[in-house]
Amino acid sequence: MDKILVQGGRKLKGSVAVSGAKNAALPILVSGLLCDGPNTFTNVPDLRDIQSTMQLLTHLGARCQMEGHTVQVDGAGLNNHEAPYDLVRKMRASILVLGPLVARLKKARVSLPGGCAIGARPINLHLKALASLGAVIELAHGYVEASCDRLRGAEIYFDLVTVTGTENILMAAALAEGTTILHNAACEPEVKALADVLVQMGARIQGAGTPEIVIEGVERLHPVTARIIPDRIEAGTFIAAAAATSGDVVIQGAETDHLEAVIHKIRLAGASIEVQGGDIRVQGSDLIKSVDLKTLPYPGFPTDMQAQFMVLMSTAQGSSIISETIFENRFIHVGELRRMGADITITGNTALVKGVPHLSGAPVMATDLRASACLILAGLIADNTTEVNRVYHLDRGYEALEVKFQQLGAAIRRVKG
Ligand code: EPU
Repeated sequence: MDKILVQGGRKLKGSVAVSGAKNAALPILVSGLLCDGPNTFTNVPDLRDIQSTMQLLTHLGARCQMEGHTVQVDGAGLNNHEAPYDLVRKMRASILVLGPLVARLKKARVSLPGGCAIGARPINLHLKALASLGAVIELAHGYVEASCDRLRGAEIYFDLVTVTGTENILMAAALAEGTTILHNAACEPEVKALADVLVQMGARIQGAGTPEIVIEGVERLHPVTARIIPDRIEAGTFIAAAAATSGDVVIQGAETDHLEAVIHKIRLAGASIEVQGGDIRVQGSDLIKSVDLKTLPYPGFPTDMQAQFMVLMSTAQGSSIISETIFENRFIHVGELRRMGADITITGNTALVKGVPHLSGAPVMATDLRASACLILAGLIADNTTEVNRVYHLDRGYEALEVKFQQLGAAIRRVKG
């Protein structure tokens, strides 16, 4: 297994470009199942999760091909309604094929994704919503089995905000008969990006990006060419890294509107952030101020940036309180940060971070994608060397992160396992 070695203590300097968003690319590639003919998606990040998605779509009968950052998906050959355990266990987001399979083949058998390091992550709301559209759903032998004669539009209330749940139902309802109204839908930019692609395909969707989305089902959709939006979490990770190292970094090609909560909090921590078009210049201050934080659904502060923000707070002046309200186990990086000298106490879903003068490099273990990024950030500010193990988590969701940090002057390298 590969590991990443970081020699801390350098201020990041220079420019870095943001890749396409993983969490927008995944549902958009899956939406290729909804129509016959080649869809062309550009600015797709080259990541393990993208490879896993393409493998799954190919297994279902679609034709997929990646060249550089362009992926073609043709749903014409879709003929297999089963997403097996071996493919789904690699990536929870595989559940996104459920809606499209039922919409197009009238049946689906999809392995239940199960929990992961950050939480139990049930899919009950996906299933409840699909049942409201008329699917008959059974759980057997670790699989969801769904079937219908025809999906019919319905009024659906999501009890909790669910990103992939909203995306799954958007895709199913796009081809249902009649009108579907989603209440308490997720407003994340990735949901809006999927809806924009579906509308380009001929779907009738209004209100995406707000909690109420209205979808009028159509008979068929047609293939499109579309560009994946920039990754707001990757951009946020660079903003946090620049602030934590007291660096001076220009982040190119970000969608700043998607980063308001992150920019707001990091400014409060003392960094100067200037936005010029799609470029964000972050100048970190030598004195980091402590800031409290609560993760929330969009437009609130994203849970996917909580671990990186905690690194920034770990050497701040004073104490900060960080509450995680989205996932029940998303403080798994705390144990490793403590081993690096951070002073963090957890009570329930709240972490009290008391700033310490410095972190100290250590061998650490990554447990999930964002925790991996957090440990690399910790390595950038720690003294001596930090060895981040199990970086395959990182490769699921960040494209060449260590290369991008090298461009910014960090002493970081990958050691092949
Ligand atoms: N939930 C339920 N029932 C459901 C669905 C969700 O109880 O049927 C709960 C979850 O357990 C969680 C909360 O609702 O407590 C929110 O979960 P959500 O469904 O929104 O998460 P997700 O769709 O599985 C996506 C991203 C995650 C990101 C979350 C929250 C993708 C592929 N994944 O997950 O990204 O953290 O939304 O914004 O879009 C990551 O990229 O590192 C990552 C984990």
